[in-house]
Amino acid sequence: MIVIAIDGPAASGKSSVATRLARRLGFAHVNSGGMYRAVTWEILRQQIDPSQAGSVEAAVLRMSVDSGFTEAGDSFIRINAEMPDLELQTLEVNQSVSTVSAVPAVRILVNAQLRALAEKRPIVSEGRDIGSVVFPETPHKFYLDASPEVRHQRRAAQGLHDSIEKRDRLDSSRANAPLKIASGAHVIDTSHLTLEGVVETISGILCKSGILPA
Ligand code: DC
Repeated sequence: MIVIAIDGPAASGKSSVATRLARRLGFAHVNSGGMYRAVTWEILRQQIDPSQAGSVEAAVLRMSVDSGFTEAGDSFIRINAEMPDLELQTLEVNQSVSTVSAVPAVRILVNAQLRALAEKRPIVSEGRDIGSVVFPETPHKFYLDASPEVRHQRRAAQGLHDSIEKRDRLDSSRANAPLKIASGAHVIDTSHLTLEGVVETISGILCKSGILPA
């Protein structure tokens, strides 16, 4: 199993970097945040109150879930035969995803999907706990960060104005698999780097580890 783990707070550049790096390596790109968003979307669709952990858990245990790879090499997740896409970035999902993803049953479900995908292909996976909890055994761990100002600008450029501080606070303070720097992770401040610059920095480290030819 080969896993490149990329963790970090909201709008630290993880998704763009992970996609670009995966294409360069010929690996698949696995977006774990998208999976938490898909579960959250389904919870909201069923009109379940995200703050009722017992109801969320009961719904999750009833969900029929499968995941795989698109032809382009990105992960997808299907829940109860639905594959949400643009709905995953809505304000409603943004506001509830940290609450839903703190429920242990949700994390168990997503982690099982992530591990099953990693059994199939080498992956670049991004999220909050990929290096610390989901794949602690991988030697290839990165933690991307950026200043709050830069992260706000990045969200705004995507037309999104949600409260990333609140989400980061919830994601970092939860009991179960909080956002943190995994032991052995390379920390990269992306505030003043271009997307290509971050990918180059990671590629340089991966060359030294032998995953990428120098
Ligand atoms: O990466 P993102 O912003 O799309 O993630 C959305 C939310 O999903 C994030 O605020 C917390 C949750 N998440 C998580 O708890 N663990 C992960 N590995 C990835 C995301």
